[in-house]
Amino acid sequence: MKGIVLAGGTGTRLHPITLPVSKQLLPVGNKPMIYYPISVLMVAGVQDILLITRPADVPMFRTLLGDGTHLGLNISYAEQPHPRGIAEALIIGADHIGQEHCALVLGDNIFHGTRFGRLLQSETRTMDGCTLFGYRVPDPERYGVGVTDEDGRLIAIEEKPSSPRSDLAITGLYLYDNEAVDIAKNIRPSARGELEITDVNRIYLQRDRAKLVDLGRGFAWLDTGTPESLLQAGQYVSMLEERQGVQIACLEELALRMGFIDAESCHRLGERMAGSGYGRYLMSIARELAS
Ligand code: G1P
Repeated sequence: MKGIVLAGGTGTRLHPITLPVSKQLLPVGNKPMIYYPISVLMVAGVQDILLITRPADVPMFRTLLGDGTHLGLNISYAEQPHPRGIAEALIIGADHIGQEHCALVLGDNIFHGTRFGRLLQSETRTMDGCTLFGYRVPDPERYGVGVTDEDGRLIAIEEKPSSPRSDLAITGLYLYDNEAVDIAKNIRPSARGELEITDVNRIYLQRDRAKLVDLGRGFAWLDTGTPESLLQAGQYVSMLEERQGVQIACLEELALRMGFIDAESCHRLGERMAGSGYGRYLMSIARELAS
């Protein structure tokens, strides 16, 4: 399965912070926002990742992540010059996807929950068509919304409905079979001028090939769209990390735990950042897992 992270958009609700810098490079706790969606792909077992950003932002993402080799990943870059919608990522990424399945994740979505990796690995294995992940929110009108029947089966999907028929927001993580590329190529822009991912998902639903997994309670799906929610997401992450003594979305640790790199490499990556708690954490994890 190929991975795509879409880190486009202009971050208007975070202006002026996002005038010179991509929203997805802003800190959430002690690490850049983009680490969180990349960690989602990694725990799903995806190693071949295309990062789609605004042209001006590519160099900064490259400085941060390089070609991914140090993490046992293959990270390549593509540009989305204008914010023409999430579904455009499937068109921009068509060559990258090739004939494979694809996991698309939005660069500003933060997921945290135990056993998430296991859930994703099992969903990617059994995926047939498309798999979406729902999360109950108090403000569903801000999101794509899924409506389910009594058995939890998806029966309708709406984008930012003014009167939502459910409180189940569709999060920014989408698993697709190879049809998604053709579907995306054939949809039309919405009233806001974007190729809506919800339209792609609705076509899967019409074909009876869309599944919605409710992430349920005990799981966190965090918003980072406004200064307040960005700060809260950082506080959530920092609080858990400090209390539990573990790092969330620590890419080097994940690479080690997933078997993408060995403990020695992980330790070396930590040494390069030994001036920070993050770097020192890497070294201690590497030592712990080597023994
Ligand atoms: C987008 C999607 C929406 C989804 C949300 C998740 O919204 O259009 O369906 O629920 O991402 O973050 P946007 O970020 O364009 O407001």
